[in-house]
Amino acid sequence: MEEFIRLNDGILMPRLGQGTWYMGEDPKKREDEISSLRLGIELGMTLIDTAEMYGEGLSEELIGEAIKDTAREGLFLVSKVYPHNAGRKNIFNSCRKSLERLGTDYLDMYLLHWRGRVPLSETVAYMEELKKEGFIRNWGVSNFDTDDMEELLSVPYGENCRVNQVLYNLGSRGIEYDLLPFMKSNGMATMAYCPMAHDRHTRKKIADNAEVKEISSRLGITPEQLMLSFVLSNEGVCAIPKASSPQHVRENAAAFNISLSPEDIKKLSLYFPSPKRKMSLDML
Ligand SMILES: NC(=O)c1ccc[n+]([C@@H]2O[C@H](COP(=O)([O-])OP(=O)(O)OC[C@H]3O[C@@H](n4cnc5c(N)ncnc54)[C@H](OP(=O)(O)O)[C@@H]3O)[C@@H](O)[C@H]2O)c1
Repeated sequence: MEEFIRLNDGILMPRLGQGTWYMGEDPKKREDEISSLRLGIELGMTLIDTAEMYGEGLSEELIGEAIKDTAREGLFLVSKVYPHNAGRKNIFNSCRKSLERLGTDYLDMYLLHWRGRVPLSETVAYMEELKKEGFIRNWGVSNFDTDDMEELLSVPYGENCRVNQVLYNLGSRGIEYDLLPFMKSNGMATMAYCPMAHDRHTRKKIADNAEVKEISSRLGITPEQLMLSFVLSNEGVCAIPKASSPQHVRENAAAFNISLSPEDIKKLSLYFPSPKRKMSLDML
């Protein structure tokens, strides 16, 4: 499996990264979270996803601590701007604060977290400014459905969007109908959030499925590793599972070496079907 996605400008983006939502918020978990992130980096999950929203900066601060002794070139840092900050008035300040908390002088990818009231043309113009000034290498969006992407492409420089970060997992395949093909045909990457279905209850429902159990035990992997390898079986998709225990981090890194056969994917599709019609975009 390819370890990177080559973005339109030639920059390589790792296909497997680490999510950090809710990290940095509980002082009792801090040490474990920092060591999990460091272990993940050691195991090759060098893309780290965060947002100014996560703990109002606490996730970015935690990452800053975790990466302080890691060579910057070996990392791919992604952060997101709140929609209400994604315009002329606040975007420079938001970006500067994210950089300060992360202890770095540039982001590899800066995403608009979801659509808000600031016109897309304004957000794009200022993303381009941030790029020109060297504060970010690239920019993208998050939680954009196909019609949002079409609108984005109609504004000046909209085609410079490199990534759309959306919810995608075995139990939530709506994007396969038109968004994923749209992203591919426009040379843009899709970053899958909640690849483990986010909450324990939904994850257990998937893990308890007879076919999931059969395939994972035959391959000697956990149902969660199967979920991750399912997401990664799509070319042009990168995944950002969040794991705060070393055990989970190891399992996730190992999932990169698992490849599901087309037959197994077909069997999974009997229970978790690919959509036959347009579905509204799942979001969290
Ligand atoms: N753009 C957006 O609007 C948006 C929305 C949601 C999420 N995100 C991003 O996407 C990331 C991932 O999504 P998420 O955190 O919501 O959900 P997720 O990654 O689907 O699930 C996280 C949960 O899965 C567990 N887990 C991880 N690896 C596991 C394994 N190998 N075996 C069993 N359980 C495992 C984690 O447990 P432990 O923590 O105990 O290891 C945690 O409870 C976020 O952290 C965030 O960076 C973006």
